[in-house]
Amino acid sequence: MPIHKAIIPAAGFGTRMLPAAKSIPKEMLPILDRPTIQFVVEEAAAAGIDDLLLITSRNKRAIEDHFDRDAELEQRLSSANKQSLLSSIQSLMAKVTVHSVRQPEQRGLGDAVNRARRHVGDEPFLCLLGDTIFSGGSSPAAQLVDAHRELGTALIGLEQVPPENVERYGIVGGTEIRPGVLKLDTLVEKPSKNNAPSHFAIAARYLLTPSIFDCLDRTTPGKGGEIQLTDALKLLLRKEPIHGIVLQSRRHDIGNPVDWLKTNLLLARQDPKLWDQLLPLVRSLLQ
Ligand code: UTP
Repeated sequence: MPIHKAIIPAAGFGTRMLPAAKSIPKEMLPILDRPTIQFVVEEAAAAGIDDLLLITSRNKRAIEDHFDRDAELEQRLSSANKQSLLSSIQSLMAKVTVHSVRQPEQRGLGDAVNRARRHVGDEPFLCLLGDTIFSGGSSPAAQLVDAHRELGTALIGLEQVPPENVERYGIVGGTEIRPGVLKLDTLVEKPSKNNAPSHFAIAARYLLTPSIFDCLDRTTPGKGGEIQLTDALKLLLRKEPIHGIVLQSRRHDIGNPVDWLKTNLLLARQDPKLWDQLLPLVRSLLQ
């Protein structure tokens, strides 16, 4: 079945981004000229998604507003001949219909995904975390959609991490059926270096089958009282095969100030015009 739906969980408190994220959702913090979450929606749309569900929360209206039209602003820009300022978001909105649902309490990523049940219905869907973007190479969403066409199973995007960092991530174990594709047999949340089944970490991008919802219903709260998506995936693995796909592009988590700043710099470096303007400052700081 072709994949045309995606969900973007973006309801978390974002405590690592406080105080910046107190009243502005962290997903709305800009990377260069646009909010982080716009990059995520662009990634989904470029992979053929035309129906997208944002999972937000009480204090995150700004995300919903960003993907809505603002007739007064459009009129103002049009009379000043400055329509191009909104062109990136407008062309995106022409490709994808954006819906939203609220997660009433921040009970974890698994609980957030479970809010999508009714919207998703009975078809496989992409799940892209709203606070992580990727650059370079084939995009994760496109890679997962392509892999699903061939493998037909649930998929988890993976990133190889240094052995000393495995304890920060959900780590998968399995058999590499060909370079970059693992048939999974285990998932371990934050293992110690010596107990990690591999160095492949779960990397913010998933392609899920609708059976995940029954697994989420059966998942009891784990660490911090939260319903963990990884725990539900463990239950899914008992019912259905899951493959891990090593992502080709570079991951940027914007959920903490240092990585957010690094992401801005790295993406600025990829834009020659912008980098020319920044270079004198960068050079002077290095002297
Ligand atoms: P994080 O683990 O980064 O949690 O969530 P967080 O609350 O956003 O940030 P910190 O840890 O407090 O700084 C990973 C993803 O899951 C979503 C987040 O929005 C993010 O995309 N999430 C998390 C929810 O949608 N709901 C939740 O209850 C928790």
